[in-house]
Amino acid sequence: MTRRPTAILISGRGSNMAALLAAARDPSYPARIVLVLSNRPDAAGLERARQAGVPIAVVDHRAFRGDRAAFEAAVDAELAAAGAEIVALAGFLRVLTEGFVARWQDRLVNIHPSLLPAFKGLDTHARALAAGVKIHGCTVHLVRAGVDEGPILAQAAVPVLPDDTEATLAARVLEQEHRIYPPALAALAAGRVRVEGGRAVILGARAPGAALANPLPGFAAPPTPPPG
Ligand code: GRF
Repeated sequence: MTRRPTAILISGRGSNMAALLAAARDPSYPARIVLVLSNRPDAAGLERARQAGVPIAVVDHRAFRGDRAAFEAAVDAELAAAGAEIVALAGFLRVLTEGFVARWQDRLVNIHPSLLPAFKGLDTHARALAAGVKIHGCTVHLVRAGVDEGPILAQAAVPVLPDDTEATLAARVLEQEHRIYPPALAALAAGRVRVEGGRAVILGARAPGAALANPLPGFAAPPTPPPG
């Protein structure tokens, strides 16, 4: 089996990156992580990658003074030098140009902390709480030119609980991010993703047997009256 050389792009903490690195330590995992690249020199994930023995690079967007094409040319140069064939965005906080996205069409994947197409953009957990949704989650998708758009590879749903804060909800979703990103990247790297129209299918994927309802049906039963 050839393992597809893959780069991970980060901007911060890098917990999804760490989940991908952990999965890729298995020699049977179909992607090999050849580079972790950050646009921020102070991204905490860089240190985690270095400790894991993965090559790291920094392309600081501030050095390009708003010239996105020049910034991306520098990113592309690092990707080419590392021999990357697939790019996984993991908390990478720069919007990519149409040119970059087209160059990496169907080889560029992202994780977003909502059930797309709901809550594109930032502050997804606060917006989910404000909207009062009862189910929230995360999405792994192929990247297209529009922000948080592109064929969906995998999603995981979590309940939103009555006393959730942004932090508790984010933590519940993040746990699922770490669960669905490694297998979704594996499917892409193994050539098991077919894109037809705007939709993606993972060949050989297993469907879950159970539905998630929140609150559980039956919640409307009246409380038992106090004795007496
Ligand atoms: C994650 O919630 C991811 O979905 C979003 O940015 C966050 C990055 O977290 N795109 P981390 O750096 O992977 O810990």
